[in-house]
Amino acid sequence: SRSIRLAVIPGDGIGQEVVAQGLKVLGAALPQDVKLETKNYDLGARRWHATGETLTDAELESLKDHDAILLGAIGDPSVPSGVLERGLLLKLRFAFDHYVNLRPSKLFPNTATPLAGRPDIDFVVVREGTEGPYVGNGGSLRTGTPAEVATEVSLNTAYGVERVVRDAYERANSRPRKKLTLVHKNNVLVHAGHLWKNIFDKVGAEYPDVTTDYLHVDAATIFFVTQPERFDVIVTDNLFGDILTDLAAAVTGGIGLAASGNINPSGAFPSMFEPVHGSAPDIAGTGKADPTATILSVALLLQHLGYADEAARIEAAVAEDLAERDAARTTDEIGDALAARVSG
Ligand code: IPM
Ligand code: MN
Repeated sequence: SRSIRLAVIPGDGIGQEVVAQGLKVLGAALPQDVKLETKNYDLGARRWHATGETLTDAELESLKDHDAILLGAIGDPSVPSGVLERGLLLKLRFAFDHYVNLRPSKLFPNTATPLAGRPDIDFVVVREGTEGPYVGNGGSLRTGTPAEVATEVSLNTAYGVERVVRDAYERANSRPRKKLTLVHKNNVLVHAGHLWKNIFDKVGAEYPDVTTDYLHVDAATIFFVTQPERFDVIVTDNLFGDILTDLAAAVTGGIGLAASGNINPSGAFPSMFEPVHGSAPDIAGTGKADPTATILSVALLLQHLGYADEAARIEAAVAEDLAERDAARTTDEIGDALAARVSG
């Protein structure tokens, strides 16, 4: 019989609440014969305060022994900026070689968007996840003095760029519109920009059916708002992708709906699924957190593990639920409603 070994990292703030709903819907969506084994990892701000640890080597080893990871949110104002980001979230993305950071954006009916009444928005950002300015390649001199100098050098390798670009072409090739847009800033960041553009063009020769396009990142932000329907698949670097996907979330129903997958396509390490939003300590414990982004991340998780029908059922349930959604519903009520729809 089939089984899923799932590592669960609820994390901080609303992470705990939304992950509980994600697991509820996962349980409802899975066929009877699939055995779900979950293991909880107590990581995040509480753990750091208690022990000074963010993620131990032993925990990293033990996480490897799973089919996937579901993560809620990491971060708390009581922890210095960067400690949990670098020591936990980015550590996982780098250690498990999550080079495809997949962030779909779909405008569901009846969602609050500044773009109401626009045509369909249905695109996916393939954000590079292991390179760029995120690698921590930099330093500072004369720190804290008026003469301080700081560098943050973006790392781009042909190997790293080619594998994510290829993944994006594969995704574009399997979608009806078959369109791929590269977003960069090659008029200013000429070294990295040319590496990306050259590889984008080279790999593109292998995908004659895919229509390609290039946009500078600043121009892309305009089109995200004025013409989002022009996008199908977008491929971009780690930092541009970070910024663009928050904007994408804002124009397609808000950060409460934005799902993501940190994917290692080779399967050498478990992929990790998480909502794009953070731990929102201001609303933690109030029942106001929208678990939909986590539930849609569970759909991406199922898709990744080969449960495409179950993933589609969750997405359909979300679309139906949003069409009727009452703004006053709590985190738990939304989870219950979606679980009920998914189990039919
Ligand atoms: C995200 C977050 C992270 C990122 C932070 C918390 C490190 O903003 O998942 O988009 O920048 O990737
Ligand atoms: Mn972000």
